[in-house]
Order: sequence, then structure tokens, then C-alpha cells
Amino acid sequence: MSRVETLLKQMTLAEKLGQLTMTASSYAVTGPVIAGDSTEAIKDGTIGNLLNMVGAEHVHDMQRLAMEHSRLKIPLLIGLDVIHGHRTLFPIPLGEAALFEPKLWALTAQESAKEAAADGLAMTFAPMLDVSRDPRWGRSAEGPGEDPWLGARIAEAKVHGFQGTDLAGAETLAAVAKHYCAYGAVTAGREYASVDISERTLHEVHLPAFAAAVAAGVVAVMPAFTDLAGVPMTANVALLRGWLREHLGFQGVIISDYNAIAELIHHGIAADLPHAASLALKAGVDIDMMADAYRRGLPDALERGWVTMAQIDTAVRRVLTLKERLGLFEDPYRRGATPEAPAAVTARRQLARLVGARAIVMLKNQNAVLPLAADGLRVAVIGPLGDSSSDMRGPWWGAADPAGHVTVVEGMTHLLGAERVLHAPGVAIDDADMSGVPAALELCAQVDAILLCVGEAAAMSGEAASRAHLGLPGRQREFAVAVFERARALHKPVIVVLFSGRPLVVPWLVESADAVLAAWFPGSEAGNAIGDVLLGHVSPSGRTPVSWPRAAGQVPIFFGQRPGGRPENPKDHYTSKYLDVANEPLFPFGHGLTYGRFSYANLRVPEGPVSATETLVIRVDVSNQGERAAEETVFLFTHDVLASVSRPVLELKGFAKVTLNPGESGTVSLLLPVAELRFLGPTLELEFEAGEVEILVGPCADRRQLLVASIRLAHA
Ligand code: NOJ
Repeated sequence: MSRVETLLKQMTLAEKLGQLTMTASSYAVTGPVIAGDSTEAIKDGTIGNLLNMVGAEHVHDMQRLAMEHSRLKIPLLIGLDVIHGHRTLFPIPLGEAALFEPKLWALTAQESAKEAAADGLAMTFAPMLDVSRDPRWGRSAEGPGEDPWLGARIAEAKVHGFQGTDLAGAETLAAVAKHYCAYGAVTAGREYASVDISERTLHEVHLPAFAAAVAAGVVAVMPAFTDLAGVPMTANVALLRGWLREHLGFQGVIISDYNAIAELIHHGIAADLPHAASLALKAGVDIDMMADAYRRGLPDALERGWVTMAQIDTAVRRVLTLKERLGLFEDPYRRGATPEAPAAVTARRQLARLVGARAIVMLKNQNAVLPLAADGLRVAVIGPLGDSSSDMRGPWWGAADPAGHVTVVEGMTHLLGAERVLHAPGVAIDDADMSGVPAALELCAQVDAILLCVGEAAAMSGEAASRAHLGLPGRQREFAVAVFERARALHKPVIVVLFSGRPLVVPWLVESADAVLAAWFPGSEAGNAIGDVLLGHVSPSGRTPVSWPRAAGQVPIFFGQRPGGRPENPKDHYTSKYLDVANEPLFPFGHGLTYGRFSYANLRVPEGPVSATETLVIRVDVSNQGERAAEETVFLFTHDVLASVSRPVLELKGFAKVTLNPGESGTVSLLLPVAELRFLGPTLELEFEAGEVEILVGPCADRRQLLVASIRLAHA
């Protein structure tokens, strides 16, 4: 008999429920309930999993309680939110999405896994895969942006990165795809609010990333806190047992979100804990994170006949199997056995610098004010985010210290020397005091360029951080206006470095600035990464993974809209538009300038009819007509012109990168499996319809900037 079955046979109900329970140490509080000391429960085998614990020693101490004192010696599974790094932080996920670089997406996950595993951990509650088209929602910062196809590519890269090729190895983590599903569509962008979307949007927009994660072998999934059309995800039989387990064949562990099982009572679908616990178990949730509903509720539920022992056993089996796959039975101390070599940590910092720089999206660069010539350059770093180490971390800082993350002041000081970098915050991120403004304005006269570092505090995005106003918080706008005025009088350029966990609605800022870098929250090497871009050591290559609104009223905003029956027509009043603002975002999905200047020509697509089994090669010539070497990101979109269901005006199907010297040209090839042109027909069945499909290639999701050709799909 297998180890799992042998154990299962010996387990008492209390021990079984222990394996279905995950509880927190006091390291990080990420929700309302905090359990007390779990030492005794671990020893008696009634707590089998922990979260929010760091430090190999600490983790191993806990593990010893289970291994040396509990009757069955089942190792603990210990997890933490390693979202964009553990001790070394990479850019926030939304920033990383801007890389459009699967290798780097995987690499940062792999490095995060190594670092966290060296701390004794075996699970991360990542990747977060919630597509979001509403920047009011603070958790947009944690996700892949607005596009489902992009989300799917990020999902597979992250799962491979975290889990590696040997899940039992000392350097890998179990990944948890979350939050399943459609959490990004919370009503009005308000955190934890109800989700109510069409079945089609669910399948076309919110599920593909999860399907990709499952296909990539993700071993766990976390249901979202939210309800979907009245059915909370934690108890959603159709989507958990149905789509995820039966349709996709997912056999891994479903782990609830923090206290989510007990919150079924607040949702109004469970009367008490036994009721809540039985709803979750029956939907397929294996591990109860922090609600203690399984331990406290399932014995009762069992007695009342609401659940069966077979259902409990199935869940226990999955948890034990995961522990086995993680190698925990073989050696529960393997992870964290040897501290990392200092060189590994240094190399990780370098990676954070590289990725930090590559995630930056240069939104504007008027008159090629950037890159700045370093020779003799003096800069004023002003604004509240110029020297705030803790904010550089972004909203999920894992086990990182608040200090030690390179600020813009520090980065510029490394690059230019202290005597050439002046600094004054001017105002705080979010308070009314303007007394620091004169001192900051004073600096403008003493330098060649002004780096205006403004935006959100790290804690203004992430969980429980929805915002209805999407501008600069506090009095930063007044401050920025004063800076622009002073700079204009002095003929000094103002380069805005914008920090945020979401696209901010700041058209006035973009208008006034000479250049704007969307830096997101770049992580531990923020200031060095930003300095590398400002001085041209790195040519910016990040592309926004979300449309940047020009007005908050445009939200939700995304490029994959359907045309509607009255598409906007300036000559016709009764067409789809606003009276007071353009339909287009301020910056389209995919926008991001480089230090080169690229032009596109000669889009080549197959001529004859193509069939569903083919993979097409689409080619385009790109040339760099600028004065510096740079990397261009080329996007491939499609548009199904005539179909039984109205299709989005653009659908992302590919991207590629090319680096070209000044004056150089190259051919970029993009692959398009024709099967990807299938879509959900009128009855939501996957269909392949013959006919014309437009192929659009270019630098971003603005149709005016895309080359267009057509292919013809043959009858299947
Ligand atoms: C709640 C969050 O929704 C989830 O993303 C996270 O993994 C858990 N807390 C654990 O910290």
C-alpha cells in the first residue's frame, strides 16, 4: 500500500482534519483572525500546515514538532506569500507583466523560490492570475494586467519558475494559482465586492490564465474571496469541482483564502461553521486557511450527514500526496538545510536591477530629453518617493526588510556621486503639509535636470486598497504644478518618475513633464534600475500591460472591446462615445517608448486558405531609425471580422522582441497556431468558423499604429 493510503488508514478524524487545516504564525498578519500558539496542536497532529513563517531555523523548529512529537510524523506544509520576491524584491507583478519576456518571468519566480526555499518554505501563494481592467482595484498591482492571453503566458512561466523540474528539490516551491476566479472583476473596483459577469467573459477573460497554470502543472489553486453571481468561489461546485477538477482534470490541492470558509456565513449562504465547512468541502476545497472551520465544523457536519468520511479522505489524500511530491516525507529539512552563498544573493540583486529597469515603461520622452548625459550632470531628486526605501518594495514585500531597497537618491548617487545629487521631498505622499515645498523648489536652480518622484505609497495598492480617485494622493499635484512652473522659468527639464501599483489618471502630469517613466514599484534595486534607464545604460523596453485611462470615468478600460452596433464615428452623434472625453486611453496597452525609433513594413501572412491544424508564421520587417540601439516589442493581434458572435476589435495572440542598432533592420517572425482562432460560439461551445481574420502587427494596441493583413480560414 502506498504511504498515503497507509497513513490514511491510521488517521483519526482529528488528525485528518489537521491535515486540512492551515494556520498562521504571528509573522505576518494578512487578515482578520490570528490563531494563538499552535505548538500543542502540531504536536498532537491536529494542525498540519502553516503560513506566514520565515527563517529556516524557525521553520525547522516547527517542523520538528511535527516530526518528533506527533503520532504519525507527517511533515508540515509551510507557505508564505512570495509574490514578487522573498527577501530580494523584484518589481510588482503588474510591472513584471510589462517585460513581455517569458524567460524573465520564469527566472524571477525561480529565484524567489530559491530564496524562499532557503528559508525553509515549501509553498508560495502565487502566481496571482486575476485579469483586471479596473485600476480602482488595488490588487491590479499583483496581477498580469488586462489581457487573458498575456495572463496565460505569465501563468505558465511563473508556475514553471516556482516549481522547477523537480518539485521535491531543495530550491523549489509549490505554486498556488490564485484567486480562482474573476476576482479582478469586483463591482466598481471595490475590494471584496461581488462579481457578476457573463459566462462568456468568465471563459474568455478570466479562466484562460488558470487553464494555462493547470496545463503547466500547478499543484494548488486558491479560490477567490468573492462570490460570482451569488455563489461564493469558496463554495462554487460548478467552477471548483466542475470546471477545474472535472473539465481541466486538476488533481492538486485547493486551498481556501484566509478565513474564506468562515466568511461563507457573511456571504449569507452558510448558517454556521459546520454548514460553511461542509459547503467548502463539498465544492472541493481541501485546505482551510485560517478559518478553523474544518476542525471546528466538520465533526458536527459529519454527524449530521452533511459530508461523508469519503469526502474528507479525498481531501486528505490530496494534501498528503502534495507533501509527498514536495519531498517532505523524504526529508522535511531539505529546504533551508544550507544557507545561500553570498554570491547567489548578489547575483539575485543584479537580476532585480536588470528586471527593475526592463519593467519600466517610458510613457513620454519629449525632444529626446532622455537619456541624460552623465557628464557633469547634476540632478535634483524631488518629491516624496525620491528617497523612500520601504515604498520601493511595493505591496507584497514577503520577508524583505523595510530598509535596504535602493531609492532614486541612492541610485543616482551611486551613478553620479553624492555631490551631484540634491534631494528634497517637498511634500509627503498623503498629507496636507506644504511647508517643504520652498526648499524643494530652491533646488531646481542648482541642477541640470529635475527628477520628480511622485505617485502612490506602496500600501495604496495590493489587498484592501481600492481607490476611487486615481490621481496623485495628497497634495502632490499642487507640488508638481509648482515644480513645473519653476522649472519652466529656469528652462530645466522635468522628468517624472511615477511610482504606482496601477495606472494613475494623470493626464495633466504627462502633459507638463518632459519625460515620464512609469516605474511601478521596482523592488529592491529600484533606484539603480531607474538610474540605469535615466542615464541610458539600459534602453527602456517595458510595455504597459494595461490601458492607461485619461479619465477615471473610462474605467473599466481595455483594448479587447467589441465593436458594438454603433462604433464611434466623429461625424455621427449617435455613436458610442463620451461627450467629454475621448474613447481612447491616454496610452494604449503595449505602449512604451525606447531610445530607438522603430518603423514597421512589409507584413507577410500566408496567402491561401489556412486550416485549423496549421501554425502560421507571420513576418514583419522592423527597422530602427533612431540614434541608439534599442529593443522593440512587436505585438500580434487578430480580429475575426465576421463571426456568429461579435468578436473583440483586437485580440492579443503573440509578441516578440528584437534588438536593433541605429539604422539596422530585421525581420521578426511571430507564430500563430490557427487553433487559437477558435472561439466560444453562440452556445458557448468552442468553434472554428471559416472566413476572414485580420492579422495586425505593431508596437501597441492602437489600431492606427498597426499594419494589417488578412488571412482566410478554410472550412474545418
Ligand atoms: C489573503 C489574500 O487574498 C491571499 O492572496 C493571500 O495569499 C492570503 N491572504 C494569505 O496571506
